[in-house]
Order: sequence, then C-alpha cells, then structure tokens
Amino acid sequence: MAEGSAATLSANAESVTGRFLAQPMRHPLKPRRAVAAGQPQLLLRGAALHNLKNLDVPVPLGRLVAVTGVSGSGKSTLARDVLLANLQFINVRGSKPSWQGCSSIEGWQQIDRVLEVDQTPIGKTPRSCPATYIGFWDVIRRLFTETLEAKARGYAAARFSFNTGDGRCPACEGQGLRTIEMSFLPDVKVPCDVCHGQRFNAETLAVTWRGRNIGEVLTMEVDEAVDFFASMPAISHPLQLLKDVGLGYLTLGQPSPTLSGGEAQRIKLVTELTKVRDDITRRGNKAPHTLYVLDEPTVGLHMADVEKLIRVLHRLVDGGHSVVVIEHDLDVVAEADWIVDLGPEGGERGGGIVAQCSPEALVRVAASHTGTALRPVLARGAAAKAVVPA
Ligand SMILES: Nc1ncnc2c1ncn2[C@@H]1O[C@H](COP(=O)(O)OP(=O)(O)OP(=O)(O)O)[C@@H](O)[C@H]1O
Ligand SMILES: [Mg+2]
Ligand SMILES: [Zn+2]
Repeated sequence: MAEGSAATLSANAESVTGRFLAQPMRHPLKPRRAVAAGQPQLLLRGAALHNLKNLDVPVPLGRLVAVTGVSGSGKSTLARDVLLANLQFINVRGSKPSWQGCSSIEGWQQIDRVLEVDQTPIGKTPRSCPATYIGFWDVIRRLFTETLEAKARGYAAARFSFNTGDGRCPACEGQGLRTIEMSFLPDVKVPCDVCHGQRFNAETLAVTWRGRNIGEVLTMEVDEAVDFFASMPAISHPLQLLKDVGLGYLTLGQPSPTLSGGEAQRIKLVTELTKVRDDITRRGNKAPHTLYVLDEPTVGLHMADVEKLIRVLHRLVDGGHSVVVIEHDLDVVAEADWIVDLGPEGGERGGGIVAQCSPEALVRVAASHTGTALRPVLARGAAAKAVVPA
C-alpha cells in the first residue's frame, strides 16, 4: 500500500497504517464511566502469589479495568492466576473454594460467570467455522427446511449439515476439500472434484432460499450475508456484529483452524456480544453478569484492529458486564475507566501497587512508568477537545 519513511506513510491516505500514524486515536473515544465511592466491586485481599506483595485490590464492576505494569510486574499473576482462577467455581455453580494465592475475594456473589477471552484457535477441527461457532448456522439450516422444495423432498434440518448425514458430499464428507496422501511428502489438500468445494451433494444443492443454495451460503462473505439475511434478525444480528468488528471479509464457512489469532479472538467476542443481546431480549430475567478477563488482547493487532477491539470491549461493559484487560497498548489503557498499575519494576522488584485510579489521575503519578508513557497519549485527546469551539 505504501513504502518509505514514517513521514511518507503518514502523507498517504491510501494506507491504513499511514492514516493511523498521521491521526492517532483520540481518547477517550466515549465518555469515561466514573468509578465513584460505593461503586459495586470485587475486593481482592492479600494477593500474594509469585511476586505479589500481599496486595488489596478493589476491582470496580460494570467498568473497563486495565491492569498495567512493566513485564514481570505481576499482571498475569494477579488477573489470571489469582482473580480468574479463584472465581472459576462460579461457572460450575460449585461451592466457594478455599482461596488460593490470596486471603479472600469479597463481592463475588455479584458475578454470574467468569470468562477468559484469548487468541487461541476457536477449534482444531476444520468442521468448525464462524457460522457454527457463533451458532447461527442452525437457524440458516432451519430456514432451508422451511422452503417449499425442502418440504416436497421431505428434508429436515439434518439434511443441511455438512458434518453428518445424507446431505453432504460423500466424496469429501462435507469438507469441500480432499486430502491427497503423498509418500515422503506432507499431505496436500485439493478442492473436491465431486462437489467443487460446495460441500453438499447435488440433491441438497437443488434447494434454494432466495436464489442461493446452502453451499453458496457457506462461501458467502459476511458483508454480503448481512444484506442477504436482513429480514432474519436471528441471523443478520450476529453477522452485523462480525461486520462491526471488522470481519466482514470472512466467509461464513471458513474453517476455524485457518483463522488468525486476532480473528479468532474477535469471533469469540462476537459470540459474547450476541449473548448480551439475548439477555436484553429475555426481559424480566436478570442478565448473567459476566467478568471477562483478557491478557494482552492486542498482541498482533494493527492499530485499526485495536480500535475495533476497544469498541467491542466498550459494548460488553455497556451491556452491563465487567472487563479486566491486561494491556501494554496505550490506546487500550487510555480507554479504561480504571487502571491498576503494578510494579514498579519486574520480578522481586515488582509485585506492588504503583497506583489504582483513572487514566487522568495516573498521568500525574510521577513514580508510574505507565503514567509517564500515557501522558502524551491522553494529551492528544485533550488537545483535540481544546480546538473545538465552545
Ligand atoms: N509459576 C511461577 N512460579 C514462580 N514465579 C513465577 C511464576 N509465574 C510467574 N512468576 C514470576 O512472577 C513475576 C510476575 O509474573 P507475571 O507473569 O505475572 O508478569 P506480567 O506482569 O504478566 O508480565 P508480562 O507483561 O511479561 O506478561 C515474574 O517475575 C515471573 O517470573
Ligand atoms: Mg503477563
Ligand atoms: Zn465434495
């Protein structure tokens, strides 16, 4: 898209990288949520695992909380090994365990679920894909069974499965690819010569919904599918979320093992966002309050993708959930409602609390490496506001 010095790229509007160099994000992207006295919170007491120095850490709930600090300061220890690990019992509705690595966690009763969202693959099997993982594939299959053609042929939903049953292509068993074993060489995958990658047999492909058969739906890109299924909110809503997080270019049937780490992570987050909406529609029922823990979710992400990730995190919090994100990326840190800054250094010279406060307060803490680095990032937003006429 562009090549040359940073200055050259900044001047090139065609390059997304150049655009972000020229106009970095201005924080906060949306008004910060206040953490006032009396804010519902978890209270971690006496955290002392690895290098942690017997810390008492309040974690505000219903807020975006960043855990910061230099490498080795104790972030993962605090957020994953102590907070997340101890609260796992909530997910299995188990009884409260004897706390490990801390003396207690107060306020856990306010949480209905804890979940870590990371970049690990969402499935090792090529039979998983965005549509099946997020869950709207079943709705699409039902849609096909309701067509006149399917009814006339007596096809039930199982017919439209590429994983099992009579509907899939028998030659490739619904994979769309065939594996050729080569002696002394790695296996080679080639498009199936029977279904030509359509994954279903000819009888199944004869059934169409609004002119498209089920094989064509699998190879459709999210961007197109949003419009194609516009009249079916149960399908178009998750598709719209995929588009919102910048995954409009994926096809509905792309095998999960081929997704990049950042793509897989955002698909997990979209799956969670669809639940936020379910909770709202299931009125009367209290939405299950989920505590999300993310350990450096921006690893490997472009600045443009970081911005998308930030917006997803904000949506989770706006949906009534709590997010704890371990981050070095200052664009994410600058979006937090609350920061727990660990350190001051790594290893035994770390494991302490340098500051626990808002980003605006952290930049005034002279002892905080994070605060020092954050100052110019926050100043960008303040400068932008200053030029807006009153
Ligand atoms: N299982 C363990 N046993 C002993 N010490 C550990 C263990 N895991 C981590 N540590 C030490 O505890 C300290 C904090 O580690 P931790 O993984 O929490 O750091 P971090 O802040 O997440 O760093 P990074 O930014 O590099 O991920 C480090 O000095 C680390 O070497
Ligand atoms: Mg870590
Ligand atoms: Zn085939």
